[in-house]
Amino acid sequence: MMWLQSLAIFLTLGAILALVLRRTFIRYACKLIRGPSTPSWIFGNVLDFNRQDQAGDLDFKWMREFGPTWRLNGILGETILMTADPKAMHHAFQKYPDDYPKPADNIEIIRMYAGPGIIWSSGHVHQRHRRIMHPMFTAPQLRTYVPIFQRNIRKMNEMWRTELAAQPSGRSTTCVYTWLTRVALDIVGEAAFDYSFGALSNDSSDLLKVYTNMFVDTALYPAAVELLIRPFWRFLPKSFLGLMDYLPLKDIQRIRQIRKAFEKEASILLKHKTDDFLSGNDINKDLMSILVRANASENPKNRLSDAEMIAQMGSITIAGHDTTATTLSWLFFELARHPQWQEKLRDEIRTFRAAAVARGDITFSLEDLDSMTYCIAALKETLRYHPVGSNVRRVAEKDDIIPLQYPILSESGELLTEVPVYAGQEVWFTFCGYNRLSQIWGDNADVWDPSRFLGRDDRKQVGVGVFASLMTFSCGPQACIGWRFSVMESQVAIAEILESFAFSLPVDEPEIQRLPSAVMNPGVMAPCVRGKLELGAQLPLQISFAE
Ligand code: HEM
Ligand SMILES: *[C@@H]1O[C@H](CO)[C@@H](O)[C@H](O)[C@H]1NC(C)=O
Ligand SMILES: *[C@@H]1O[C@H](CO)[C@@H](O)[C@H](O)[C@H]1NC(C)=O
Repeated sequence: MMWLQSLAIFLTLGAILALVLRRTFIRYACKLIRGPSTPSWIFGNVLDFNRQDQAGDLDFKWMREFGPTWRLNGILGETILMTADPKAMHHAFQKYPDDYPKPADNIEIIRMYAGPGIIWSSGHVHQRHRRIMHPMFTAPQLRTYVPIFQRNIRKMNEMWRTELAAQPSGRSTTCVYTWLTRVALDIVGEAAFDYSFGALSNDSSDLLKVYTNMFVDTALYPAAVELLIRPFWRFLPKSFLGLMDYLPLKDIQRIRQIRKAFEKEASILLKHKTDDFLSGNDINKDLMSILVRANASENPKNRLSDAEMIAQMGSITIAGHDTTATTLSWLFFELARHPQWQEKLRDEIRTFRAAAVARGDITFSLEDLDSMTYCIAALKETLRYHPVGSNVRRVAEKDDIIPLQYPILSESGELLTEVPVYAGQEVWFTFCGYNRLSQIWGDNADVWDPSRFLGRDDRKQVGVGVFASLMTFSCGPQACIGWRFSVMESQVAIAEILESFAFSLPVDEPEIQRLPSAVMNPGVMAPCVRGKLELGAQLPLQISFAE
């Protein structure tokens, strides 16, 4: 048996040597590219990146230092390419998306949150998911959601009125973010699943409980040991990865709890929708009903498995509610800081209200909302300035050359118009970096100023991205499927809320933090809301009745 042992040792050593050689090779090629020095060989720049005070601070710093594309140090000497370059983004997201999948650990974490749904899927499976879910996001279908948006936001407004009426000063400092997440949760539940989370009215709903603060609990400041082990998941066989569910890490257990709660609810819902369908009561327009109808199709290409259908509920809810609520929170925060813009938006909304009343309408039509140019400009500017997904990770599936729109200087002072990447190398795309490229957005890219979007024609693409040349919703076949949904929901929210309420900064002006989490939630540097001393996503603003 001696020879067998020797063979095993020989093979192991050979594998290690091959790995080391490949690493060296990658590092050699990427040495050409400038980047920050590494504070630690073990964690590279990864730990610092996950511990930023303000999400994006490091992206912007590195961009100033090295130009739109640079090299980072990953875990255990790994090399990462980081870029804000539009051509590089177009290359990876639009032109060759199959060559730049999400990294294995990223996919696995997505599965832990929501199961094998659309966000988790890739390649052909993803195309099937996307095709089957498309009917929910067509223009005529989206139009039917407008009354749902209006009804839910008005319900929140009523609650604000009651709260303000009880204040002698007519003012109240309240966590605008919490309110908005609840209303956005109810909206996505009703529009997508014909389901009531009861988030605005029922504090004790089970799903709401596991959901509250979920990204802060699970994705903010990941444990160092987790950052250390995640790059190695890609070496594990797929069937093994499911075991990660049982890792004794607090955040992993919390993520699993979220998925379990969704699976329970989604199974019940799916059963109801299937019963409706079988009894010929097939009138429902929500996503679950669309999926059940597709499941009855002759062609297996048009079907999702039961597990896939169940996974869509978590996928759409997670992708769809906190993102929009966070964007709106940042918008109202900016309006509190820029009162003159707040006035402009409110005047515009009131002008359209007067016209709507004059024609006998009690609500704004979609055409009204689409004509509110100040409101739309402020929304776009907020999506640009505070992209809630500040960056995304991809991995090069094979050796490749990534072309650059904006050349960078190499270590040796040479101008690089393209950069090499090797199979297995991670590429991090900084959306917040792209959204602030002075080459695209001008010298005042670091200033929140909606006027840059006034009179700008969106059809004239100046960069990449599915909406307004922003990368906030990404681009290509895996771009945000819900971007129109989100924009419409936001349009309704802005019009309904600003018409009645005014926002200002609280008297003690807490320092607001852009949390470097999976979603760039607002947070507070120092405790302030009603003496609450907990780390969590929050945005305290002072609200009052608009004059
Ligand atoms: C301001 C709000 C939103 C932002 C900034 C946003 C951003 C994004 C981004 C950047 C991606 C791509 C992620 C990646 O490639 O790693 C994405 C994907 C996705 N988003 Fe959104 N999103 C928003 C709202 C919504 C809404 C309202 C929905 C649904 C109602 C939604 C559903 C999805 C889904 C299902 C995917 C996965 C698409 C796929 O893999 O094909 N999102 N979103
Ligand atoms: C609130 O949620 C709890 C737990 O899910 C449920 O038992 C209760 O009936 C709900 N109450 C209302 C008013 O919906
Ligand atoms: C989907 O279709 C299969 C086979 O036709 C059936 O067994 C399954 O129960 C259906 N699932 C749902 C949720 O309708």
